[in-house]
Amino acid sequence: MNLADEAIGTFERLGDLAEMIGRNPKVALELAPSALRGYILKEGEKNTFSLNSPHKTLYDWTYANEGNPAFRELYHRAYKGQWSAQDLPWETSVDPEDLKERYILPEKLSPIYNTPLMSKDPKDNARLMHDVLGFLLSQFLHGEQGALYAAAFTVEATPWFGAKLYGATQVMDEGRHVEVFSKYIREKLQRLYPVNDNLFVVLHALHQSPDWDIKFLGMQIMIEGLALGAFGLFYKFTKEPLLKELLRLVISDEARHVHYGVEALRDYYTKEVSETLRREREDWAYEIAVMLRNRFLFYEIRDKYFAGRISRKGWEKMILESEIMREFRRVLFSRLIPNLKAIGLLTDRIRPKYEQLGVIEFEHMKSADRLSLAELLAA
Ligand SMILES: [Fe+2]
Ligand SMILES: [Fe+2]
Repeated sequence: MNLADEAIGTFERLGDLAEMIGRNPKVALELAPSALRGYILKEGEKNTFSLNSPHKTLYDWTYANEGNPAFRELYHRAYKGQWSAQDLPWETSVDPEDLKERYILPEKLSPIYNTPLMSKDPKDNARLMHDVLGFLLSQFLHGEQGALYAAAFTVEATPWFGAKLYGATQVMDEGRHVEVFSKYIREKLQRLYPVNDNLFVVLHALHQSPDWDIKFLGMQIMIEGLALGAFGLFYKFTKEPLLKELLRLVISDEARHVHYGVEALRDYYTKEVSETLRREREDWAYEIAVMLRNRFLFYEIRDKYFAGRISRKGWEKMILESEIMREFRRVLFSRLIPNLKAIGLLTDRIRPKYEQLGVIEFEHMKSADRLSLAELLAA
């Protein structure tokens, strides 16, 4: 990316932040340190990154506070459902530039499909699709790394022993997800992209918050809810057998994680907190939803392939208006929106904003606690 593009990109992100200040000044102020490190200092582009994550560790010497019975049930289901990454068919040969038979995603899901940017040479389009897959799967992997740390945090911070034990299984699950996605990316795709700046800001925001419910909301509901939608989309469309099996197993774990998030936050937001705090969380979740939606605008692909041919604004307009990309973003939110509703963060007050975002249609779908694995895989 050239310097002018980089400067434009930074100004656009600052413009997004200015819009957020107009909508939700309190949330914008909370997210400002994360935005500074992600958008201005671009810390996501470095190889490593650290922050002080404030939270409390809660010991309970009585072992009596079990919490919601669903926690213990999810815990038992989790350790019975453990699987080994070594059992996946890693010997499968994968061609990430195959768009005809055993493709990872069909070409119609390419961000430039049916646009003037498509090349007449199918090999060029296949190469570009290879990068699209590398970009998307890299973001899955980075999200999994964030989930690993967030899960570890929940073990320490939750007040309920049922939840602490359940959380221990989620740490194991997330470790395994980092293992399988990084192995797939390194050995089969050979395209590791840096963390997208919007995802970086969301991860930073939830880790730097001292409030346990923000960490749960950010990770277990928002990021994991969106990931479930994305994994389901890949699972549905892929003809690549190794990735299909990998995703089936990961989805079976993620379904428990999102279920846990819904159970843990539902009572808290609907019964325990003040209306003022509930509203604040409703606003926070909305702003995070906007950022996560922007994660799928594929600027990284534009910068690599089309920097000289189309402006960032032109690219954004093209992606936002593309029928297929619109569908892609909507499907991603199909798992997130019902969960927000289930925990009491999708009231009439905020509904018009989600309507504007084009994702309200999913509000009547089943939330994670009511979905079977078969339903998740059939989506
Ligand atoms: Fe995961
Ligand atoms: Fe997870």
